[in-house]
Amino acid sequence: MSKTITPLIAGNWKMNGVSASLAELTALGQALTAGPAPRAIVVICPPATLLAAASAHGASSGILTGGQDCHPAKSGAHTGDISAAMLADAGAQYVIVGHSERRANHGETDELVRAKAEAGFAAGLKPIICVGETEAERDAGQAETVVERQLAGSIPDSEATFVVAYEPVWAIGTGRTPTNAEIAQMHARIRGVLTARFGERGASVNILYGGSLKPSNAREILAIEHVNGGLVGGASLLAKDFAAIISAV
Ligand code: PGA
Repeated sequence: MSKTITPLIAGNWKMNGVSASLAELTALGQALTAGPAPRAIVVICPPATLLAAASAHGASSGILTGGQDCHPAKSGAHTGDISAAMLADAGAQYVIVGHSERRANHGETDELVRAKAEAGFAAGLKPIICVGETEAERDAGQAETVVERQLAGSIPDSEATFVVAYEPVWAIGTGRTPTNAEIAQMHARIRGVLTARFGERGASVNILYGGSLKPSNAREILAIEHVNGGLVGGASLLAKDFAAIISAV
């Protein structure tokens, strides 16, 4: 029997959005408050420049916010970086760590991702820890091994609440997704790893699916066992699409 977990739908705006984009948040808020209350926790992770404004904007409609990355240190000489405490100060409750774009573009290792997740905990944030295999790794039959290694290396030993996002690298921004059976198999595997390591607590961790999640496939993907929500990139930029994904829960 699987536990009842409140689904979480998080939008990752990546390096998109200027002040005018806050109109999408207003529209999303209107869409969410117009109908029946959403069955999911709704989080938007805008670029850091918009975080404080987005947090203020979302407050009245129950939209939470998160950062897209943080530095492992509390403060210091790290030009251009942002600490978890700064994200929290700007109103964030979540922080994405270890997104594959950070792993690929900035050479982030599991060890660094784990330190970032710990920094998130210390600032009172819930880290959304991302894992996922490349296409070559899947083709080589290594998908589960890679994801297990990332989980082992990236999740800190802690009592604090965290979220896992399974995002196959080859599905991000490509319009391609794994089959429902492949998603079910990986999410069951991740659940197994979490319960083996964290016991009861591992049974209540939200495991999000991410990678080309959109209104047309959200209903079937979000219904798969151990898929407790989604991490949405492209389709989170327009309120209409993101609201459709939320209502698919
Ligand atoms: P996508 O991105 O929805 O645009 O595929 C997902 C992500 O990178 O989190």
